[in-house]
Amino acid sequence: MRQPNLRTGIARQAKTALQHPKFMRAPVPEGHASPDDRVPARWRKEVERVLITDAQIAQRIRGMSRDIMRDFAGREMVVVSLLNGTVMFLADLIRNLALPLRLDFIGVSSYGAGTESGDLVFTKELRLNVRGRDVLLVDDILDTGKTLYRVLGKIRALKPRRIKTCVLLNKAARRVEAVEADYVGFEIPDFFVVGYGLDFAERYRNLPFVGVLYPHVYKKTSQQVIPAKPRKAGGRVGG
Ligand code: XMP
Repeated sequence: MRQPNLRTGIARQAKTALQHPKFMRAPVPEGHASPDDRVPARWRKEVERVLITDAQIAQRIRGMSRDIMRDFAGREMVVVSLLNGTVMFLADLIRNLALPLRLDFIGVSSYGAGTESGDLVFTKELRLNVRGRDVLLVDDILDTGKTLYRVLGKIRALKPRRIKTCVLLNKAARRVEAVEADYVGFEIPDFFVVGYGLDFAERYRNLPFVGVLYPHVYKKTSQQVIPAKPRKAGGRVGG
């Protein structure tokens, strides 16, 4: 997880950033004036703004699915999805893929709470044999690229016929590894985003939209200092 560059006045910064040519390939939709763009009352204390609405996500996924079906037509594909952030994206993506496919998961998580990346740990290995197969690797967000780089190396070693990568979000500004995705839902600026499967400390995955957290939410959790309880003299340790 990573340290976002969020400040007061973020909405203004975001608007300017989204107009930058860099984000023009599949940009976050502009014209945030519909009622869908308002943060639902339940989340208003934690979520500063809706970056991408559920309707915008649904529309974009239909477009991505068409591209994928065109490229994978004629052969059974293996969809490999990374846990846990792809849960909503994957479900919506594959129901739009009218193709024969098999589905498997790789579990990968980074040690370290908050928004900063830690070391990658594989929590579930691939079970299906992908040798000679057409693989579609799905992730929620391509950020520094470290995750996709590692996972691509792992899958390539299994000798698939080809691998294409598909991500809902691309944060190109933070890239460290030279890795790009073949199918990208939205190019986004360098904000720490949550919702639609993406989490902060395992929370907010259930938001139906992609939103930006207020800085006080992640600062409170990741920088909180909890005083240790004083030990009783002569007390038993452990047990
Ligand atoms: P890297 O940096 O390896 O990141 O490309 C990939 C994984 O890191 C998580 N990630 C995020 N999660 N909001 C999140 O909720 C973000 O803005 C964000 N950026 C990276 C995510 O799990 C992704 O698969």
